[in-house]
Amino acid sequence: MTSLVHVSLSDLTCRGYDIFIDSYRILQFGEFLTQFEPYSSVVILTDDKVHEKYVSDIYELLRRSGFDVHLCVIDSGEKSKNIDVVIRIWNQLLENGTDRNSILAAVGGGVVGDIGGFVAATYARGIRFIQIPTTLLAQVDSSVGGKVGVDLSATKNMVGCFYQPVGVLVDTSVISTLPQAEYICGLGEVAKYAVSLDSELFEKLESNADKVNLRDSDMLKYIVKRCCEIKARIVGEDEFERVGSRIFLNYGHTFAHAFEVISEFTLSHGQAVAIGLVYAARLSARLGMVDKNFVERQIEFNRALGLPMELPQNLLSTIDWDNIISIMRHDKKTESGKLRFVLPTQIGQCVVVNDVDPKNIVDNV
Ligand SMILES: NC(=O)c1ccc[n+]([C@@H]2O[C@H](COP(=O)([O-])OP(=O)(O)OC[C@H]3O[C@@H](n4cnc5c(N)ncnc54)[C@H](O)[C@@H]3O)[C@@H](O)[C@H]2O)c1
Ligand SMILES: [Zn+2]
Repeated sequence: MTSLVHVSLSDLTCRGYDIFIDSYRILQFGEFLTQFEPYSSVVILTDDKVHEKYVSDIYELLRRSGFDVHLCVIDSGEKSKNIDVVIRIWNQLLENGTDRNSILAAVGGGVVGDIGGFVAATYARGIRFIQIPTTLLAQVDSSVGGKVGVDLSATKNMVGCFYQPVGVLVDTSVISTLPQAEYICGLGEVAKYAVSLDSELFEKLESNADKVNLRDSDMLKYIVKRCCEIKARIVGEDEFERVGSRIFLNYGHTFAHAFEVISEFTLSHGQAVAIGLVYAARLSARLGMVDKNFVERQIEFNRALGLPMELPQNLLSTIDWDNIISIMRHDKKTESGKLRFVLPTQIGQCVVVNDVDPKNIVDNV
C-alpha cells in the first residue's frame, strides 16, 4: 500500500506537497505525472548510472505513450555538482524548448536532486519540479525540504536557494541495486533521526537490524515513511532555517563535518555521521546529560546496523583536536565561532547546547 506524507509549509502560498512512498512505483511515473497537468513538456534529469538502471526504460515508455519528454543525463557523483553542469543543463533546456509550463523530474540521488532543484528554481525564473529519489540518503533526507544548489570550488552547497518540489515519488524497490557503501551512507542519516528524534524508530531498528541489513521491503518503506514524517514536520516549522528547528536534523553533524575534512573526504558523509553520533553521545555523557549505558547503546546500534563506530586507525592515531575544533568553529552552520551541538538527553530526544567548552570535546575519546 502506498504511504503518503504531506509536507505543509507555514504560509498561504499552497506550496505544500505530498511524498508518495511505495515499492515499484517508479514504473508508474506516467500516472504519477497526471496530477500535475497541465504541463507543456517533461524534462527528466538523471545521472549516467541511474539512467542505465532505471531511466532509459521509463523514458522510452513515456515517449511511446505520447509524452513530450526530454532527457538530460549528467555524470554521476559530487564532481557534477557545480555551476558549469548547471549551465549545460540550462542550455539543453533552452534547445529542447522547455518553457515555464514544463516540469522537471530529478531522478537520482542527492546530487541529481540538488542540481535539478536549482535548475528548476532558476530556469525561466522557476519551473515546477518533482523529486524521484533513488538513494536511501535522498529518500530519507535530501529530496524533502527544498534545499537545492551546487558546490562552489571546494565549498559544499555554497550556491543555492530554498525551492520546494511539487511532489516526491519514492520507490523503495530501487534501493536493492544501491552499492553497500551508498546504503551505509543513507543509514547514517536514518540512525541520526532515530537516536535524536524518534525512539519508536530506534527500537524498531534495534530489534530488526537483520531486516535492515537485508534491505527488507516492508522495513525500507517503514524507515522512509518515518524519516520523511520527521523531516516534513521540521521543514514545516522552519522552512528557511530561520526559526531554529532545522538544527535538530544536525545530530552528529558537527563532528561529522570535521571528520570529513580531516579525512580529506575519504570518509563518506554517512560514515562520518555514524561516527559523529558516537562522539556526540560521548560528549553528552561528559556533560552529564546521558549515562554511559546510552553511549554503549549507541555503539551497539551502529554495530548492529553495520555502521562504523570509530574513526579509521590512520586518522585516530594522528588526530589533532586543535585542528578539529578550529574546523568546527569555521563550519558554515557555526555562529560567531561558538561550538554548538545537538546532543541527546535520551533515546529519541535531543537539545541544542550552545558554547560547549572545547576541553570537553578534546577529551572526548
Ligand atoms: N538538499 C538537501 O537537503 C541535502 C541533504 C543531504 C545531502 N544532500 C546532498 O546529497 C548529495 C549526496 O547524495 P547521495 O548520497 O544520494 O549521492 P549521489 O547522488 O552521488 O548518489 C550516489 C551514487 O549512487 C548511484 N545511484 C543512485 N541511485 C542508485 C540506485 N538505485 N542503484 C544504484 N546506484 C544508484 C549514483 O549514480 C551515485 O553514483 C550531496 O551532494 C549532499 O550535499 C542534500
Ligand atoms: Zn547529513
